[in-house]
Amino acid sequence: MSHSSTNLQFNVQPGGSLQGKVRVPGDKSISHRSIMLGSLAEGTTHVSGFLQGEDCLCTLNAFRSMGVSIEGPTDDGKVTIHGVGLHGLQAPAHDLDMGNSGTSMRLMSGLMSGQAFDVRMTGDASLSKRPMKRVTVPLASMGANIDATATGTPPLLVHGGSPLHGIHYDMPMASAQVKSSLLLAGLYAQGETSVTEPAPTRDHTERMLRGFGYAVKTDGNRISLQGGGKLTATDIDVPSDISSAAFFMVGASIAPGSDLTIEHVGMNPTRIGVIDILRLMGANLDVLNEREVGGEPVADIRVRSAQLHGIQIPEALVPLAIDEFPSLFIAAAFAKGQTVLTGAEELRVKESDRIQVMADGLLACGVDAQPTPDGIIINPGNFSGGTIDSHGDHRIAMSFAMAALRATQPITINDCANVNTSFPGFVELAANAGVRITTL
Ligand code: S3P
Repeated sequence: MSHSSTNLQFNVQPGGSLQGKVRVPGDKSISHRSIMLGSLAEGTTHVSGFLQGEDCLCTLNAFRSMGVSIEGPTDDGKVTIHGVGLHGLQAPAHDLDMGNSGTSMRLMSGLMSGQAFDVRMTGDASLSKRPMKRVTVPLASMGANIDATATGTPPLLVHGGSPLHGIHYDMPMASAQVKSSLLLAGLYAQGETSVTEPAPTRDHTERMLRGFGYAVKTDGNRISLQGGGKLTATDIDVPSDISSAAFFMVGASIAPGSDLTIEHVGMNPTRIGVIDILRLMGANLDVLNEREVGGEPVADIRVRSAQLHGIQIPEALVPLAIDEFPSLFIAAAFAKGQTVLTGAEELRVKESDRIQVMADGLLACGVDAQPTPDGIIINPGNFSGGTIDSHGDHRIAMSFAMAALRATQPITINDCANVNTSFPGFVELAANAGVRITTL
């Protein structure tokens, strides 16, 4: 795996605009889940549009090392999974390397708790610092037996063979990863497992379980299922990732003269906070050709540049745009007037501390950005340019690449190799659309 600390550098010259049509890679959340559920289903699952990013390849390799025969991904994103059934996985011969991927580690914690064998899961430097108690504590109350470090970080050793029983869990934070981890453990638990969420989070796990013929009940903010059922193979068409599209929405909004259409974007209602927030800021976004593909809504998004204005971001939108804040901070830096974000402390425990790392980067470019415990205050001013440390966080790197479209000086971004975790081909796609980007 190439999630090493290779210092890939982005050099981005100022100016330009975004034009034409782009199709960004497949949705990361849906791609992970397609491998997990396809592997545990009975029968053969065909996936198209699979994201060949390193995160999803970690999930794919994990299931291969547990005896699942998986063909692909082909160059055009086709994967064929020969499911082994809920009880057909075999003990892997080695540790499972989850790379940079929190989704793999947290969702797999739930799934591995229900197996008959032990599994050790490791991660890179970033993942090894991320909090896992949010899953290990509720999983333990279902009967799981998981060892972590003293501070609750990876590596995780999941001991197999512990019988699980359902619980009713009131989630303390809005996290789709925690919800999904418990629901996946719930497949192996006796009785009902239910999770109550404090605010809606992405619901791909629920949707996909239903797609595989598994009954999942959603009752307001409470999601539940009964253990002991089975998954039946199905075909999955993965839409483009709205989280990857977000960089282009922001880029086209801030770069004068832009007119860009982003095609086949997943428009799941639990993911479109970025569109709502950009519209509140005055962005010119048209949602075109809305359709449904394999149980998920999809549309083309046309973005034309507009003068954005600063806003107080509504807290209810935070979980619905949780991965898009690095790029939204760039939008705010080119808006008229102050933008204030609150209620987003989760950003501090993503692939990097996205509040601090973005504030540092904006300051390096001459923008007044003040981090707060649960958000940020951005006072736009003269955005010059500068050198950014992305801290190996893919979304920080791509956000500052887009900022160059409207900066007055070049932007150099360090530690960009992890862009491949979610967006292989970013540099070529961005360059073709009009970003003046090269790599070193
Ligand atoms: C994800 C959920 C989100 C998101 C992550 C992917 C998922 O994390 O940040 O990139 O696929 O379930 P949380 O649920 O922890 O907020």
